Amino acid sequence: MRHREMSGQATDKLWAIQNRHPGDREGLFAATAELLDGDRVLYPGSYVDVAASFVFPDVTYVDSDARAKRFFADGSGVERIVAANKRYGGPSRFTFIHADYGSDLGFPGEGFDLLVSLYAGFVSRACKQHLRTGGLLLANNSHGDAGMASIDPDFELAAVVEKRDGAYRPSTQSLDRYLIPKRNERVTAALLQRMGRGVAYTRSPATYVFRKASG
Ligand SMILES: C[S@@+](CC[C@H](N)C(=O)[O-])C[C@H]1O[C@@H](n2cnc3c(N)ncnc32)[C@H](O)[C@@H]1O
Repeated sequence: MRHREMSGQATDKLWAIQNRHPGDREGLFAATAELLDGDRVLYPGSYVDVAASFVFPDVTYVDSDARAKRFFADGSGVERIVAANKRYGGPSRFTFIHADYGSDLGFPGEGFDLLVSLYAGFVSRACKQHLRTGGLLLANNSHGDAGMASIDPDFELAAVVEKRDGAYRPSTQSLDRYLIPKRNERVTAALLQRMGRGVAYTRSPATYVFRKASG
């Protein structure tokens, strides 16, 4: 018989696999938090990456994967993991939506302060309408989403997060040194979609932080 939610043990096991580099994702989110004004976070394509809730008190996770659905259905198991690791004093609020992040997610309008895009396709395009003007997009370039945001007039590069000696640090210095393709090629949405991964840039920070520009 299949269970609709995970047992606590299965929840812990899935989290241990997700957290195979212990504390790494938490470090990335903590560095990002230094740049953030506000705390409402939308994380499309999250899978079971609840490290976001260790740093941010209000996170909405979205994923179409059935295991992610079953993981979050074990609310007390996830709460236990978050409570044991969270860095803030107050309560944590997290919601999971089992859906394609490109579908109508039922949010009332622009509202989130941070949109997270890590290894989950072109989140910046599909979900930018849920980000408030001035809100931040945290994107890496693995699937090309940093490149996609870099050519989107609705986003401007606001910072990068570099990883040195195992520690993440945000930087807003000399941002014009970033997002320069190694090869002499024009980065277009069609190219990124065709490649399904990022183009190589002359510098490779761990992640990029873009600000949603006013329209
Ligand atoms: C490689 S995992 C990355 C998970 C997490 N972001 C991380 O960095 O550990 C990609 C996740 O994105 C989800 N995903 C990809 N496209 C999606 C879509 N259109 N809607 C919802 N989830 C999606 C997949 O189900 C999968 O769980």
